[in-house]
Amino acid sequence: MKNIKVLLTRKWPKTVEQKIVDTFDAKLNANDQPLDDSELIDAMQNYDALLPTVTDNIHKGIIECEKRKVKIIGNFGVGFNNIDIDCAKNNDLIVTNTPEVLTDCTADIAMLLMLGIARRASEGEEHVRKSHWTGWRPTHMMGTKVTGKKLGLIGMGRIAQAMASKAHFGFNMSILFYDPYFDNEAILKRLNAQKCASIEEVLKDSDFVSLHCPSTDETRGLINSETLKIMKRDAFLINTARGDIVKEIDLIDALKKNEIKGAGLDVYEKEPTVPENLKILPNVFLLPHLGSASTETREAMGLRVFENIKSFFSNQVPQDKVV
Ligand code: DGY
Repeated sequence: MKNIKVLLTRKWPKTVEQKIVDTFDAKLNANDQPLDDSELIDAMQNYDALLPTVTDNIHKGIIECEKRKVKIIGNFGVGFNNIDIDCAKNNDLIVTNTPEVLTDCTADIAMLLMLGIARRASEGEEHVRKSHWTGWRPTHMMGTKVTGKKLGLIGMGRIAQAMASKAHFGFNMSILFYDPYFDNEAILKRLNAQKCASIEEVLKDSDFVSLHCPSTDETRGLINSETLKIMKRDAFLINTARGDIVKEIDLIDALKKNEIKGAGLDVYEKEPTVPENLKILPNVFLLPHLGSASTETREAMGLRVFENIKSFFSNQVPQDKVV
């Protein structure tokens, strides 16, 4: 396949880059700087496959560029809201993603955020590092107990199910969820999960609300000043899905007014920008989009892209074809 030209928009784990270089005529991005629109268009015109990631905005102007050569976009990521999927479909451009391999690691980060915000982990860590700690005392840095509480999930896909499993079996939590598309009785039974008829029902009853839906026209801004008011005042919001599912200004306002107790966030509306007035709040636990960021998972994601591209150029349907 050495006659097939592929371009990676960012730096990938070394082992996967090596496999790609050994198999294709590959252009890597050693300095890991994001490509701008003109560089992406240039790639579309001069390569057979474009391998972007979730931070590359592959919009209509790029897909419909003149003299496009690229036949397949192998996205490094399970989410593909960075790509204009309808436009790709209309232009006979194949798009693949990387499901399954990041399920556990992303659910682990959701658990970390839940525990971190409830038990004040980042505050405590800073306290020690800054030598502010004066010793154990009965009322020092009291947080909120997690074990045995109610976890509400918005969306019940693979990552939500993995989180539910960890929370239910590891932390004895009861699970409720809203997902109009989910219908698997066996899984519900195993997790003893309660299916809710509306998002409001989940928000109203949960001690922790964790978001696991994709970013779509339907879900963008789903968590806003009105929906936040439905949550209990001592509840926490966890987001490892996509930043724009939450109206960040409304969340900041609700946190300032203590309308909810806190939030654990891995994703933001305008990454990598995180608003200053969010960063200064004491009741947030913030991570820089680390959901899938373990060596094992990032290698597995890269291999998944590799296999998808290899299948396509062997005239097979890639296993993770989105359109
Ligand atoms: C994805 O793959 O969509 C994730 O957000 C990356 O961790």
